[in-house]
Amino acid sequence: MTRVLSGTRPTGKLHLGNLLGAIENYKKLQGAESFFMIADLHALTTEYEKQTHIADDVTEVVLDYLASGLDSARCVIFIQSEVPEHAELALLFSMITPIGWLERNPTYKDQLQELKGKDLHTHGFLGYPVLQAADIALYKAEKVPVGEDQLPHLELAREIIRRFKHIYGKDVFPEPEAILTKTPRIPGLDGRKMSKSYDNCIYLSDPHDVVDKKVKSMVTDPARKRREDRGNPDVCPVFYHHRLFNSENSETVARECRQAARGCVDCKAEMAAKMNEFLDPIRRSREAWSKKKTEVRKILDQGREKARQVSRQTLQETMQAMGLKK
Ligand code: TRP
Ligand code: SF4
Repeated sequence: MTRVLSGTRPTGKLHLGNLLGAIENYKKLQGAESFFMIADLHALTTEYEKQTHIADDVTEVVLDYLASGLDSARCVIFIQSEVPEHAELALLFSMITPIGWLERNPTYKDQLQELKGKDLHTHGFLGYPVLQAADIALYKAEKVPVGEDQLPHLELAREIIRRFKHIYGKDVFPEPEAILTKTPRIPGLDGRKMSKSYDNCIYLSDPHDVVDKKVKSMVTDPARKRREDRGNPDVCPVFYHHRLFNSENSETVARECRQAARGCVDCKAEMAAKMNEFLDPIRRSREAWSKKKTEVRKILDQGREKARQVSRQTLQETMQAMGLKK
């Protein structure tokens, strides 16, 4: 049975980009050996100044996981900080990770640029990929379903694991492989990649009218200024979503757009209706789970115990390999 691990940073509610970019694959890879965590320690690397909100965001992500179709009978759902082995293995990995690898990490450089308002010149933020490598290695995961933006981190995890094997001559961890979905980057309201930091997201928990309003505000083919102008669906983010949520009609939509036989207002209304149809069951399930606090806590408690069983064992093997234990 293939071991699977992935995680999501709890920096707010999950959006369609998270679902279609990664969580869809969590669902497909569910099985006796799959572990899905909420990476609250990773959230702390950038949100350390407002720690009080992280626990609330953890709850939101758990609800989004369950509402999206993760089934605690078929996978292990847990909170990273409740399994101390993550921090312990990260410390052990930090001993063998050259600083140059971390400083060269393209995601690190991008984030320093992008999150200019925050002081990210910390040990924890530089070591973000070391912690992520530990997350994966603790479960000896072979498959890691993630969004495209995580590929550099996965590459670093593989490098750290290879270095471990090279130094200690022990094959404790398999080399993990990233698993991407067919739609690794879906466009947000402004046409850029849907991302919380761009404030252009449709959230899984957005009510009907909010989805309608957001879709109304979406950018379309920028060259189509008037209703009489012919449009180009290939450059239109609304059309991208037609292909996802209204696939049976997408050819008609494209043709009518090209012939100026449909206006953007109607086109958006049709897409919003389809997107709402897609989101309806998720919203309903989320609503139901949000009322079952005790049950949700039980899922997380069981998840923590299962995660600890596996991770304790791996940590022992690692300590032996590194000479801390006989
Ligand atoms: N860095 C990931 C993200 O921002 C979250 C994450 C933490 C993760 N640990 C992981 C993903 C381990 C895959 C495997 O989305
Ligand atoms: Fe986009 Fe639809 Fe307008 Fe064409 S008609 S530009 S697909 S919103």
